[in-house]
Amino acid sequence: MPVQTIATTPYDDQKPGTSGLRKKVRVFQQPGYAENFVQSVFDSLEGFAGQTLVVGGDGRYLNRDVIQIVLKMAAANGFGRVIVGQGGILSTPAASHLIRASGAFGGLVLSASHNPGGPDEDFGIKYNVGNGGPAPEKVTDAIHARTLTIDQYRISDDSDVDIDSVGTAKMGDMAVEVVDPVALYADLMESLFDFAAIRAMIAGGFTLAFDSMSAVTGPYAIEIIERRLGAPAGTVMNGTPLPDFGHHHPDPNLVHAKELYNRLMADDAPDFGAASDGDGDRNLIIGRHSYVTPSDSLAVLAANAHLAPGYVAGLKGIARSMPTSGAADRVAQKLGVPLYETPTGWKFFGNLLDAGMATICGEESAGTGSDHVREKDGIWAVLLWLNILAVRKQSVAAIMADHWATYGRNYYARHDYESIAKDKADALMAALRSKLDSLPGTTNSGGTIAAADDFAYTDPTDGSVSRNQGVRILFTDGSRVVFRLSGTGTEGATLRVYIERYVPVGGDLGMETGDALAPLIAAAQEVADIAGFTGMEAPSVIT
Ligand code: G1P
Ligand code: ZN
Repeated sequence: MPVQTIATTPYDDQKPGTSGLRKKVRVFQQPGYAENFVQSVFDSLEGFAGQTLVVGGDGRYLNRDVIQIVLKMAAANGFGRVIVGQGGILSTPAASHLIRASGAFGGLVLSASHNPGGPDEDFGIKYNVGNGGPAPEKVTDAIHARTLTIDQYRISDDSDVDIDSVGTAKMGDMAVEVVDPVALYADLMESLFDFAAIRAMIAGGFTLAFDSMSAVTGPYAIEIIERRLGAPAGTVMNGTPLPDFGHHHPDPNLVHAKELYNRLMADDAPDFGAASDGDGDRNLIIGRHSYVTPSDSLAVLAANAHLAPGYVAGLKGIARSMPTSGAADRVAQKLGVPLYETPTGWKFFGNLLDAGMATICGEESAGTGSDHVREKDGIWAVLLWLNILAVRKQSVAAIMADHWATYGRNYYARHDYESIAKDKADALMAALRSKLDSLPGTTNSGGTIAAADDFAYTDPTDGSVSRNQGVRILFTDGSRVVFRLSGTGTEGATLRVYIERYVPVGGDLGMETGDALAPLIAAAQEVADIAGFTGMEAPSVIT
């Protein structure tokens, strides 16, 4: 196999964010841009000669081209085998499972998650380590350092490999194994959940809709929900993955999954609706006339997980990202298991899962998952909900009402201010940070501030510390407002404001969320002067 060593110069913008390197497709199309990053990943790793690499992505524009680059560079750098999803397709949780099941050294997941796709939209590359999870910060820091000094990359001269037919080919000494991206994952799901009970529920007249948003979960959802669970054809909406997601934004929230939401709010709504994002790791759950916030979903799943065969033994612990509501904390307390509060981003859960300290993890951003893989998993969350519904034989709305009556209710919303000039967003955060010490004891529309800090996390498994993970304003009644800047955007800055108010059992559990949170929304303005810094009077997206 002829190997070329190509001279290159560094790009100064290849720092991985919350979830890998995400940029506009046009940025990735600059000469050597993807190659530099992939070589920097390989240069930061040790001991992969002869080992296995998994590669696949969510099918977005550029997916197939970058897969060929990765194959040629993996061969030139000495990997022994690359496993590729057929057609280049692997959902993020399926990639995580494949890395674990094949004993791979690691994997490259090609996705920009819920960001739009197409020639003018976004692409991304994320490195996952041998446990199947996103590389921890010490690895992403090393990759970033390497991108700043890289001067050459190695690539094979071989022609493109056929990635559309299942089977094994050779590139030099390296084997290229093209696998069915769905079967192994569907088997894993079948091992965790009571498919017979769910099938019986559906056969008995339970109706559902699953929106794949023209993204990667289409083939997975059709196999699992329609074929294995017997839901009628058409249950899976937008089930064909498209390179531009049909011009939609594959983000399963109330703005972008509006079609599904409207269907679930209609008079003739199905019993259950769900959606997943571009790469299949997020989920949206909506019962008939009943939207479930991701934070509440995490709490309900944790409280009821023992009803599914994979979790009958109970939970070892629950982990949530800091901005996620405290609803899961109350479940952990009742179950008598530890609750871990981590920074935003799935990479912080990996160590806890590996150490057997947590079983279920979740984020307010529609991510939930368990120790079955090391990524969040959209279809997993949907199947656990379906398993719970099949056992409890109640509606989603009834399960939510029962949950709040047992634990109290954490009213919750996230307000996103998008496309802010970066310097303005930085100035807002700097101003907020500079007054943290003076806030406790003061009063505003939200009440009296009990504490204010910038969240820092010490990983209990290896002692590593992550600082500046979000500004928290905590009120004396347990309410809070959290401010942080997004680490996944590709243009300007996005300010996320997370607003939460807890109402205990016996209080008013049936308010509209907007009404319940109004004083705290006003408090967020007062304390951070969002309108003053950004010129925006209202958030771009409320979830
Ligand atoms: C966002 C979410 C975060 C999630 C990440 C990757 O990151 O907030 O919870 O882990 O996407 O899906 P952010 O843009 O806030 O940095
Ligand atoms: Zn995603």
